[in-house]
Amino acid sequence: MVTKKKAVYKRILLKLSGEALLGKQSSGVDPEVANFIAEEIKSLADLKVQICIVIGGGNIFRGLEASSKGMDRTSADYMGMLATVINSLALQSALEMRGIPTRVQSSIEMREIAEPFIQRKAIRHLEKGRIVIFAGGTGNPYFTTDTAASLRAMEINADVIMKATKVDGVYDSDPVKNKKAVMYKSISYIDVLTKNLKVMDATAISLCRDNNLPIVVFNMQKKGNIRRTICGEKIGTYVGG
Ligand code: GTP
Repeated sequence: MVTKKKAVYKRILLKLSGEALLGKQSSGVDPEVANFIAEEIKSLADLKVQICIVIGGGNIFRGLEASSKGMDRTSADYMGMLATVINSLALQSALEMRGIPTRVQSSIEMREIAEPFIQRKAIRHLEKGRIVIFAGGTGNPYFTTDTAASLRAMEINADVIMKATKVDGVYDSDPVKNKKAVMYKSISYIDVLTKNLKVMDATAISLCRDNNLPIVVFNMQKKGNIRRTICGEKIGTYVGG
């Protein structure tokens, strides 16, 4: 059911995992999933929320995994960053096919296909109702796309990071392996770090903690959940101070 409530946030950063785009495929982008995400975002139009998106690249290339198998870490991480650009373009295409104005800004300059990341321009795009997709991670090796999401959220003054996952929120143990795992309704940054809960990596969580930026972890595979989260329904886990 579509919630009729109003948005509790003015500006959000939506963090999607690359794996979410896999759908039924073993690699690459499943157009069905890209279309599902685009439809979910389209359905938010009446809320007038400013939206930016950071998407991972794990469906195409996992830098950390490749480096653990012997590839040079810096090269592997750059390959991962390029994978996020592919995903960003796929999502841009799915959104624009639905008439949603979108700009992709990349931290690694590739002007033929995306604007460079310029903080002031990104904010201007958001104010004009465009969705901004931040591609290329932070542009540096050794940082995850979760950290890129935290950094960009800070830079554009987002009210919240909405971290989309395959499960309903943050659990005390892996809910896929342990049927008795208990989901937290809310949890502090410090508990996420000390309990090693893998909401996002420690750098990303610390950045949010230092700047008091809340994170809501929620299940995006259920239709309407992005909207519910934006409207403040307590459907996932709230990570805060
Ligand atoms: P405003 O003028 O502020 O309304 O923003 P705008 O994005 O519509 O204007 P701009 O003239 O900057 O961009 C026009 C189009 O060109 C948009 O689709 C941009 O995404 C795109 N664009 C702007 N700069 C670049 C760039 O460096 N590389 C690429 N590939 N596209 C760009």
